[in-house]
Amino acid sequence: MNICADQTHNVFKLDTPRFSLALALADGKWLGQAYCGPRLETADLAWALSLDQRPNTPDTLPRETVSFFDCFPSAYPAANMGDFREPCLAVRTVHGQIDCLPRFKGYEILPGKPALEGLPATFGDPEDCNTIKIILADDVTGVEVELYYTAFTGLDVIAQSVRVRNGGESPVWLERALSACLSFPYEGQKLVTLHGSWAREGAIQTRDIGVGVQGTYSSRGITGHQDQPFMAVVSPGTDQEQGTVCGMHLLYSGSFLAQVQRDQHDSLRTVIGVHPDGFRWKLAPGEAFQTPEAVLVFSDGGLGQMTRTLHDLYRGHLIRSPWLHRPRPVLLNNWEATYFDFDEERLLRIARRAAELGVELFVLDDGWYENRHTDSGGLGDWKVDRKKLPHGLDGLAERVNALGLKFGLWMEPEMVSPDSELYRAHPDWAIRTAGRDPMLCRDQYVLDLSCPEVEKYVWEKVSGTLKSANISYLKWDMNRPVTNLGSAGQPPDRQGEVGHRYVLALYRLQERLTREFPDLLLENCCSGAGRFDPGMLFYSPQIWGSDDTDALERLRIQEGLSMLYPLSSIGAHVSDCPNHEVGRVTPFETRGNTALTGAFGYELDVTAIAPEEQEQIPAQIERYHRFCGLVQSGDYYRLSSLQAGSRLDARMVVSKDRKQALVVLTRSLNAPNQRPKFIRLRGLDPSAVYADGDTGREYPGEVLLHIGLPVELPGWDFGSRLISLTQK
Ligand code: GLA
Repeated sequence: MNICADQTHNVFKLDTPRFSLALALADGKWLGQAYCGPRLETADLAWALSLDQRPNTPDTLPRETVSFFDCFPSAYPAANMGDFREPCLAVRTVHGQIDCLPRFKGYEILPGKPALEGLPATFGDPEDCNTIKIILADDVTGVEVELYYTAFTGLDVIAQSVRVRNGGESPVWLERALSACLSFPYEGQKLVTLHGSWAREGAIQTRDIGVGVQGTYSSRGITGHQDQPFMAVVSPGTDQEQGTVCGMHLLYSGSFLAQVQRDQHDSLRTVIGVHPDGFRWKLAPGEAFQTPEAVLVFSDGGLGQMTRTLHDLYRGHLIRSPWLHRPRPVLLNNWEATYFDFDEERLLRIARRAAELGVELFVLDDGWYENRHTDSGGLGDWKVDRKKLPHGLDGLAERVNALGLKFGLWMEPEMVSPDSELYRAHPDWAIRTAGRDPMLCRDQYVLDLSCPEVEKYVWEKVSGTLKSANISYLKWDMNRPVTNLGSAGQPPDRQGEVGHRYVLALYRLQERLTREFPDLLLENCCSGAGRFDPGMLFYSPQIWGSDDTDALERLRIQEGLSMLYPLSSIGAHVSDCPNHEVGRVTPFETRGNTALTGAFGYELDVTAIAPEEQEQIPAQIERYHRFCGLVQSGDYYRLSSLQAGSRLDARMVVSKDRKQALVVLTRSLNAPNQRPKFIRLRGLDPSAVYADGDTGREYPGEVLLHIGLPVELPGWDFGSRLISLTQK
């Protein structure tokens, strides 16, 4: 058992292979964090809570409780109770006041991990993990707080979530209920976060932690292109190989907050959870609120080790799709090939040639339904445009299938266009505040999924469409943030619930989709990576990585996303040049190599590209099939980083048994007068010999690890090479 409750010392200790988290009680009732760091074997840790400025607890010095709470490393700090730092809990009572100070009541150790009702969560059997539920309760309000900590046995991960229940006799309103909180002494650590914008996702930022509050958040109703629901506190000098890392990743797809606060005594408090702005959740007596889960990930081997732990966690304990380990069919999506300008004949022409070249799945993107000739209009009605598709979706799917291809479809189920029958009939089905038209974004409104009748309508449209034809794949898109948050379906004192209820309804819809269409390959999308978060990965094995398909931009974007997410979850397509977003021309081979370490596909008119490019496609597809098992299950190493300023992007995947490896090297701009360089590989067996699959050249593993592989790239801009190594 990797969790112990040591009642002699009033300590609860959770161990992962290399880390420990210890919680302890002060005065037998105040739950604080005694320790978080490299694994300790002893449980005699309660004394850690009484170090520094906290010699006096409320029991020993009742006249001075504020100075105790203001520096106590509370496990779940409450607002308005003498702790002036970032709180996790704010409860407004029936008196209109913020009031709640939960104290320890009991605990329970549970084998394995309970599921979270209605929310995505990591899962595991008792041999994978164990959970401790610590119960706190407040005598005045009757509010009970259950803190769930799950420690994994084979991964340096603790999953945390919180359930707040109103055990009192009057309603209360939660104004803040975050998911997790950790404390550390400040020792010069840095803060690592991920940012970006539309078509520029995945930018890694490292900054100093100053006194005060800093972090990242989204108030967009989606996680957003701009900010990942992730934050890591890393020791000074941390890089891919070395350094201590404590990351927090929220399994949530709506507005979030992730903050670190360096306080007056140089202590750090990190918190993560649903964004409290605009959030207000009413709990009638007996009702409970479940927070999303936060994954706490630890590494003493730098960011690279954190990445590999997260990849293993998400592949082994989060992504449930049967497609996770199956070779995904190589798809061709018509978006960049035709945009809205297509009819059945044009689609079939592209599909026919695609099939000849080895493509396996043809995906029809936006524009297949009535009143959709530009990105204004049509959303919400989902009636097939018979002028473009005279044989309907079923007729098109049949014809595509007859070419030997599976058929896939795009939908944007959460949206409605003002110019639609749906909106004309139900203007109140759009998310809006009373008496004001909602703001337009991409000429569309967001449907109010918090209303059961809207959720039902969306389900009927999605499931009806999927049943109307032989559809093997769905791209579920979402192309704007949520504004004017308000719902005609909720009473005034529940308007603060609309944002979270929207996310819960989205999860219900996706859950139903996975249950009723178990073989469907689902790819989520949000104008690219606008909702690329672990919450969505619970439902879909892949998410579209970015609307920017330029190879060079994609290398940067995929570098950022792959710091957290398994390679096989990142949708990556070969597209045409000059690239539609940045006008850049890159070699076809480089575009293929860039997409190869993702969920691989094409997004171009295969009949219109040069014959030499067409001819490369069968070999690219053959290579994808050769390496996809390795990419889906191997250990990923970042060897050289464009984001860190290098001209070389180098990434590597090594099979778990270290018998096979794939190295992908891509240059940005070429430079004159370069001396030969070596790049040191990682993860190989030093005592083995590896053979290069193309040249047959043999290298001792220790040489590849310590001297490296010669970087031999074509002598032009954006030159790229794949090196496949197999143990002899
Ligand atoms: C979003 C997606 C694109 C494409 C368009 C269609 O931008 O990210 O891939 O599907 O919508 O409108």
